[in-house]
Amino acid sequence: MTMMEKNWIEIGTLDDIPRQGARVLKTRLGCVAVFRTADDEVFALDDKCPHKGGPLSQGIVHGMSVTCPLHNWVISLETGSAAGADSGQVRTHRVRVEQRRIYIDASALHTSEVM
Ligand code: FES
Repeated sequence: MTMMEKNWIEIGTLDDIPRQGARVLKTRLGCVAVFRTADDEVFALDDKCPHKGGPLSQGIVHGMSVTCPLHNWVISLETGSAAGADSGQVRTHRVRVEQRRIYIDASALHTSEVM
């Protein structure tokens, strides 16, 4: 599979996101938080905590998780699931990095363009 397939949209480069940070991608279906871990892995989740909708993009990234800035729920970047005793799920989006360029699978965003 190549990145040129129609549902994969380039959204920037690895250098656009600080390590253990995030950038927000605005789409027609809401904001998506694109995270970069300390190991340069990239994940994309809806920017909406499954607890009360807090902005996960403003949370603290640690390992393969992000801690929500509002009430400290810990969300897995891989699965979008809340950890520990909390239960909830946020939608994840497939992302790939090729030659430091980041691509997102926009098929679930129901749009061929991001804003
Ligand atoms: S809104 Fe995220 S922990 Fe409450």
